[in-house]
Amino acid sequence: MVQKKPKAVIVFIIIISSLLLLSLVLILAFAPWNDWIVSNKYLHPIIRTCLQTRKKKLVNWILNGYPELQLQGDRKKYVLDFGAGLCYISHELNTRGYDVYALDIKNLNVYPDIKLHLYDGQSLPYAELGIENRRHPQDVKFDFGVACYVFHHISKKDQPHILRQLQSICNEIILIEETPSREAWCRVINGEILSHARGHRTPEEWSRFGKVKKITSEDFLVRIQSTDKFSDSESS
Ligand SMILES: C[S@@+](CC[C@H](N)C(=O)[O-])C[C@H]1O[C@@H](n2cnc3c(N)ncnc32)[C@H](O)[C@@H]1O
Repeated sequence: MVQKKPKAVIVFIIIISSLLLLSLVLILAFAPWNDWIVSNKYLHPIIRTCLQTRKKKLVNWILNGYPELQLQGDRKKYVLDFGAGLCYISHELNTRGYDVYALDIKNLNVYPDIKLHLYDGQSLPYAELGIENRRHPQDVKFDFGVACYVFHHISKKDQPHILRQLQSICNEIILIEETPSREAWCRVINGEILSHARGHRTPEEWSRFGKVKKITSEDFLVRIQSTDKFSDSESS
């Protein structure tokens, strides 16, 4: 009788631990962490503070990597922030004097002074973009588009189609992408283990779309000009 009690306790502990582990795995797999945190407006000032260093670093990667994109003289530059997310890239570019159009498929914006535009994720809202463009009659297109850590969220099948749409409205597009190993951790942090589009490519794969420039062991830039041609086929 006395010996049975510890066994029951051990079985109970094993069952409870297994349930806790299972719950943790399910939460990690399904919880949209970003959305929960960002929907709380009281947290926005804290999020903005946390993003201070990151936004400067990423914008410096782009503008130091391609100095010709820097502002010169009085001429305004018109930039598309494609997949703007929290809108910190838009905010940093805006602070540096660029005229930014932020576009995404969902609203995660934490900067009240940035206007985020939403669309369906497949067909760019050309009509709306056209209206914005008329504020800049000297430019038919955006001077450049940036898409930071966006394209691995888009399926490989859809990437060429979306890139071509971007080419038609931007003189050039700068992507910041990351290696698949880092991306796997981001999926856990963002609660996207199962829902993720898994559109990541290696720098070598991206080189069939444009010129790749490595920044760190895990981050790289891809520069795609409006005249660059690429096929939809993965084998080419
Ligand atoms: C990892 S976040 C990056 C956000 C931001 N660019 C940054 O650097 O933090 C990826 C963003 O891509 C957006 N996204 C995913 N598919 C998209 C699509 N088809 N068109 C535009 N944005 C998309 C998501 O809504 C999300 O905001």
